[in-house]
Amino acid sequence: MDKLKIRGGKRLEGKIFISGAKNAALPLICASLLTDEPVILTNMPMLSDVSSMNKLLLQLGTTIEARDEIINNNACKNYTYSTPKLTGLIAPYDYVRKMRASYYVLGPLLAREGHVELSLPGGCAIGARPMDIHLSSLEQMGAKIEIKNGYVHADVNGRLKGTHLVFNIASVGATCNILMAATLAEGETIIENAAREPEIGDLANMLNSMGAKISGIGTSVLKVQGVEKLHGTTHKVITDRIEAGSYAVAAAITRGRIELINAQASTLQTPIKILRKMGVHVEEYENSIVVDAVDCTLTGQDIMTDYYPGFPTDLQAQFLTLMLTANGASMVTETIFENRFMHVPELLRMGANINVHGHASAIVRGVDKLYGAPVMATDLRASFALVLAGLIAEGETIVNRIYHLDRGYEKLEQKLQAVGADIERIKETEEE
Ligand code: EPZ
Repeated sequence: MDKLKIRGGKRLEGKIFISGAKNAALPLICASLLTDEPVILTNMPMLSDVSSMNKLLLQLGTTIEARDEIINNNACKNYTYSTPKLTGLIAPYDYVRKMRASYYVLGPLLAREGHVELSLPGGCAIGARPMDIHLSSLEQMGAKIEIKNGYVHADVNGRLKGTHLVFNIASVGATCNILMAATLAEGETIIENAAREPEIGDLANMLNSMGAKISGIGTSVLKVQGVEKLHGTTHKVITDRIEAGSYAVAAAITRGRIELINAQASTLQTPIKILRKMGVHVEEYENSIVVDAVDCTLTGQDIMTDYYPGFPTDLQAQFLTLMLTANGASMVTETIFENRFMHVPELLRMGANINVHGHASAIVRGVDKLYGAPVMATDLRASFALVLAGLIAEGETIVNRIYHLDRGYEKLEQKLQAVGADIERIKETEEE
């Protein structure tokens, strides 16, 4: 397994191009299953999660054409997904266990074919992450749902029926799945307490460009008038706000200055507020954000994760790490997932001062120095937090199991090298 070797102490300065959003790309890929016409996705990030989802769709009968393209001076991919006929309706355990977002095929396949067999995703490092809201909502829309041998068997005679749904949790995944299913349902579907993440808006906009009739985009009440058929489209994936936020912290933690090209400040308002309260200078432009912490003294701030537009749970680990370099104490409270402090034990090994209380909150106290060490990546965002710690630690840090990082951060070491980081990837073969 590849590793990252980082030597800390470099101030990061320069430009980083932000890629297309992983958490938009994954449902957008599955939305292409709703039509028998080609769907072209541009500004797609080159990530292992995208490759995994592509492999799953190939299994279902989709043909995929990939082309290189340059968008805003950034090399990325453009994919054409064509599924004139579905030849498979099973999302096998092997795919789903590696990437739970495979469950985004549930809504589209049920809406288009009336049948799907989906392996239950099972638990994950950051929490149980059940899919009860996805399943109960589809049942209310007329689907018959059975759980057998670890698989969801979902069936509907004819079309799903539009219905008035009220989510008890503003679930991103359930909102995406039900939104896709509702586009081809009979009648009107209302989703109350829908998630409002920008990635959902991106999905809704693409579905509307395919002929869907979705209103209330960006609000917590989505209304969908079902249609008989959707047609193909071309859609540019929105920029990844979590990648942008992660590199914003890289600038702040090294007291550097980075221009985040293509970043959309409108999708990062809460994290930007925290950075400014800490003492970081943040300039917002139409298609970029400048994060400048040169010669800044930072003050710790309390953070509580929440549903969008609150503070994103996907930036909690990164900001917790930043608090280690700030004066004073910070309370970090995680309200979305039950086990999302796995970066803490590894940071403690680097000399951090953090006290986790139960599962939900951690008190972080600024320290003078972190010390390089071999550390273990666990989940995607916790892994980035370890990279951030390595960037400022004295000496060398080796981050193991970086396949977690490759799931969600495109060209990570190249982007950091371009702004002066002393970081290199050690390929497994080089080790032997
Ligand atoms: C999406 O996960 C993201 N993944 C996550 O990003 C992100 O952390 C999360 O939304 C919250 O923003 C993708 O978009 C691929 P949820 P998802 O359904 O959809 C509970 C990353 O690092 N819940 O909003 O799984 C659930 O257990 C990943 O990129 C139910 O109880 O998140 C959690 O506690 C990590 N029943 C809470 O809701 C359900 O049916 C929020 O989950 C569904 C969810």
